[in-house]
Amino acid sequence: MSQHSVAMLVGSLRAQSINLRLARAIERHAPASLTFRWVRMEAMPYYNPDLEPDRPAAVTAFTDAVRACDAVCIVTPEYNRSIPAVLKNAIDWGSKPVDRSLWRDKVVATSGASPGGIGTALAQAHLRQILAVQGAHVQPGEVYISFRSPDMIAEDGTITEAPLRDFITTFATRLAALTARMAG
Ligand code: FNR
Repeated sequence: MSQHSVAMLVGSLRAQSINLRLARAIERHAPASLTFRWVRMEAMPYYNPDLEPDRPAAVTAFTDAVRACDAVCIVTPEYNRSIPAVLKNAIDWGSKPVDRSLWRDKVVATSGASPGGIGTALAQAHLRQILAVQGAHVQPGEVYISFRSPDMIAEDGTITEAPLRDFITTFATRLAALTARMAG
């Protein structure tokens, strides 16, 4: 099977983030055909069209890194029933200029974890809508993890519960298959 690269975007900046743990778990349980490149988003200024003629270096670094990857995996918390500002800002930068949108025809898988019962369902519904408008191929299916206890996923991404491990493995395997199919 050929190798494909995946840009990993984590919507939380918190060192002890449960979404960071989930992202590590996805990488750990993904097929060997996927190589993950972790791309950070917080160095970019707020989107401002006035900056377009001379895009900040942090923006170019972000868009170059994501553009170079075959797919994107977004792992995000839900903030006030939507996605965190840092993630929306990155998506906005990537969407311009329109004829060079980073998201058009990009394979994007979304997932997220929340201590609450709905496990980021609303944030991901928003995310799917935002990305679909950009022309991304958003992976079908839903991965909302209700993070009931800190032991569910260890800091290094190890999952002890077999059903959760299988669920994450299936998610990552489907991402590998969709990426391979779209890469032709
Ligand atoms: C939250 N949290 C939260 N949770 C949720 O399920 N739905 C929500 O709408 C919100 N809103 C929200 C807003 C803000 C500003 C914060 C800081 C938090 C709780 C959130 O899920 C929890 O703090 C997670 O632990 C955040 O994810 P990380 O940082 O652990 O990855």
